[in-house]
Amino acid sequence: MKSRIANGKPTWNATVSEPPDPMPTIRTRITDLFKIRYPIVQGGMIWAAGHRLASAVSKAGGLGLIGGGSMDPELFRHHIHCCRCETTQPFGVNIPLLYRHAEDLIQVALEEKVKIIFTSAGNPGKYTPRLHEAGCLVVHVVPTVTLARKAAERGADAVVAEGVEAGGHDSLQGVTTLALVPQVVDAVSVPVIAAGGLADGRGLAAVLALGASGIQMGTRFAATLESSAHPDYKQAVVEAADDSTVLTLLKTGPTRMIRNAFTQRVTEAESQGASPEEIKALEGYNRSRKGIFEGDRSEGKIEAGQSSGLIREVLTAREVIDRVIAEYEQTMKLLPIMERVAK
Ligand SMILES: Cc1cc2nc3c(=O)[nH]c(=O)nc-3n(C[C@H](O)[C@H](O)[C@H](O)COP(=O)(O)O)c2cc1C
Repeated sequence: MKSRIANGKPTWNATVSEPPDPMPTIRTRITDLFKIRYPIVQGGMIWAAGHRLASAVSKAGGLGLIGGGSMDPELFRHHIHCCRCETTQPFGVNIPLLYRHAEDLIQVALEEKVKIIFTSAGNPGKYTPRLHEAGCLVVHVVPTVTLARKAAERGADAVVAEGVEAGGHDSLQGVTTLALVPQVVDAVSVPVIAAGGLADGRGLAAVLALGASGIQMGTRFAATLESSAHPDYKQAVVEAADDSTVLTLLKTGPTRMIRNAFTQRVTEAESQGASPEEIKALEGYNRSRKGIFEGDRSEGKIEAGQSSGLIREVLTAREVIDRVIAEYEQTMKLLPIMERVAK
């Protein structure tokens, strides 16, 4: 049995006084690119990744991202201001390009001089010239080699290669992280950040071996104390096993989430050949908010990945990062021993 959610209040420290940045212990192309200590990015997630999570991750040596997708432009601006008050370390934002207000969010990011912009679900080429002109780094999330090549050709400074194990929106092509990452590494010359199914230091060691320059974790950070996801969402992740999630809404926007009464109805409708319009009617409005932010475990979208099975407790963002680094170091120490045993 997994343990239950730890009791207590978020423990982030809202001061800007931070120790001087030591040399990175794991130096990669993305620690150099973003000027961060560890090659760990926190996915910018709707309803879960506000300023508290982003600043906590950045203070702990990773790269925190504010998830703009669920915010209106002025709320987004507020989160950027708060994050700046909470940390002097680099942080960025995530803007899913499929949303109608993406253009407005890009404008706010430019006005607020945010220098690291992650885009997803759309064509980054529309914005990269403007963003580069303003001195921003642009990173685009891709689910296939073809889209990785396109993103690099259109000026992305790095790509996130995200396998279908990932929580949230996924592609119907269904390429898994283990297969995707080395193929993207071979296909593009920009740094590759691996995402999907990664929640511990063994995963970090594995994808660095595949040629990635770091990891982006979503579900693991959504289930931290500083995440703005509802405690019942976090509890659902903690209780989930490897097979608790399902890729659903296949015709209207494939999304991985924890199975519940809502996913059951969608799966049944999909198997009976329901049209996209019928699925949209069944889905209704604001189900991600209902699941992630309001914690409705049966009727909301509890967007989470297959890595949920690895997540056994709600930790602080710093604890997550410290554990991932310690596990990575332990894994790297053990690898030569395993090799000798195999001979
Ligand atoms: C609750 C939740 C919301 C997400 N929202 C977004 C989003 O707004 N934009 C985006 O690019 N990715 C989003 N993602 C994907 C994450 O940024 C990340 O790439 C993914 O979760 C990695 O896989 P993992 O869940 O196995 O860690 C979301 C993921 C989760 C779990």
